[in-house]
Amino acid sequence: MTRRVQADIHWAIDQFGTQMVDQSMDSATEQLNVLLSGKGAGSEYTGWLNLPAEASDTLVTRLEESAATLRRQSDIVVVCGIGGSYLGARAGLEFLDGVPSQVAQGSSPRILFAGNSLSSWQLHKLMNELADKRFSIVVISKSGTTLETAVAFHLLRAELVRRFGTEEARKRIVAITDAEHGTLHDLAAQEGFVAFDLPRDVGGRYSVLTPVGLLPFAVAGLDIRAMLMGAAEQRAASLTSPAETNDALQYAAARRLLNGSGKSVELLTSFEPCLHFTGEWWKQLFGESEGKDGKGVFPASADFTTDLHSLGQFVQEGTRVLFETSIDVPSPGEVTFVCEPDSPDGLAYLSGQGLSAMNRQARLGTLLAHHDGGVPVIQLSIPDVSARSFGSMIYFFEVACAVSGYMLGINPFDQPGVEAYKRNMFALLGKPGTETDAAALHSRLDSEA
Ligand code: PA5
Repeated sequence: MTRRVQADIHWAIDQFGTQMVDQSMDSATEQLNVLLSGKGAGSEYTGWLNLPAEASDTLVTRLEESAATLRRQSDIVVVCGIGGSYLGARAGLEFLDGVPSQVAQGSSPRILFAGNSLSSWQLHKLMNELADKRFSIVVISKSGTTLETAVAFHLLRAELVRRFGTEEARKRIVAITDAEHGTLHDLAAQEGFVAFDLPRDVGGRYSVLTPVGLLPFAVAGLDIRAMLMGAAEQRAASLTSPAETNDALQYAAARRLLNGSGKSVELLTSFEPCLHFTGEWWKQLFGESEGKDGKGVFPASADFTTDLHSLGQFVQEGTRVLFETSIDVPSPGEVTFVCEPDSPDGLAYLSGQGLSAMNRQARLGTLLAHHDGGVPVIQLSIPDVSARSFGSMIYFFEVACAVSGYMLGINPFDQPGVEAYKRNMFALLGKPGTETDAAALHSRLDSEA
């Protein structure tokens, strides 16, 4: 069986006795079985487990055709969405950006993102970028009511209509949303937009391997079949291997041991900046899945060596609440350092080395120092920067997160806490039906002013 993502947890668990480690591994296995039995909390949202196995050729072909149309008709494709309807696509696009073996021949449109904030300035700059370009929109929202996405889409669509006319604008919009209900579903049906369904049983943060991620990836010219294959390989490894050879279970077990021993922050690090947005996606996956009932590990991320010059001091010597999960991936390109023997900058000792080799030594030195400084380190490695590995990595983290959540005793598939800010925001914005809440909030704000 191909093992795509590998976990080495020995620098994370060396402080625990064998019995504790075995217990945690057993618990991870038990909770994987609960997940697979479909009887765990939130089991109605575990459709993601089967996505790599069930993605039909018909769906993938439709996605490829729709992507080809978008590529042909656009200089820029704006992907409009937030949270789980945004981060996975961005993570994959940034991970694979510019890797020659991974991108299809021919010119690709630029992919820009909107609808992931309420910043006027961000949208203003985007509109300026679009001014003289042929553009299209992929709008992604499961609920269809998310304010950030709805507002940006409304304005971008109006701009499309103004520039290209109603008929042509219609052909330049693809909607990814619920199959049966919701504002965006209804609008897409009424206007005749090309539409893809977001499966009911897949929550936003577990949706990368649905059209939510696959369509933007295909627009960028990436091989979505390879991505699904990588996820399917990881699925086989993660769902059927015993704990001793199951990297996802080992990762989940190590996290729980560390959290149980007082480590409350997990810092996801990498020495390749192409993983920056994978960190952003991962933070949502783990933060929204675990952070409830007063429990959970706070997920943070850092890009090394860059952030060693900002956060490094804290990691090494600050409050001992951290453990680190470091992702290693070989660089897909190489730059060799060349230097004259008598170069006054004193760098001659590095001459002839690739930057990748330097980066590797920096990584090993850093992880050793962190471990020695009291930061337990989990090491994850992925074989290459490819669509296939990206698919594996997504699936790996999803399984590990679900198992880890069940081990913690929470429902990893809901997010009740995100409603609180929305309730206040809508009331303050004057949404009809929120008048009572609005009056109470205004009086509090006035009295605290
Ligand atoms: O994971 C989640 O469920 C959330 O992050 C959602 O994806 C996010 O709030 C966007 O929701 P929607 O797709 O309904 O616009």
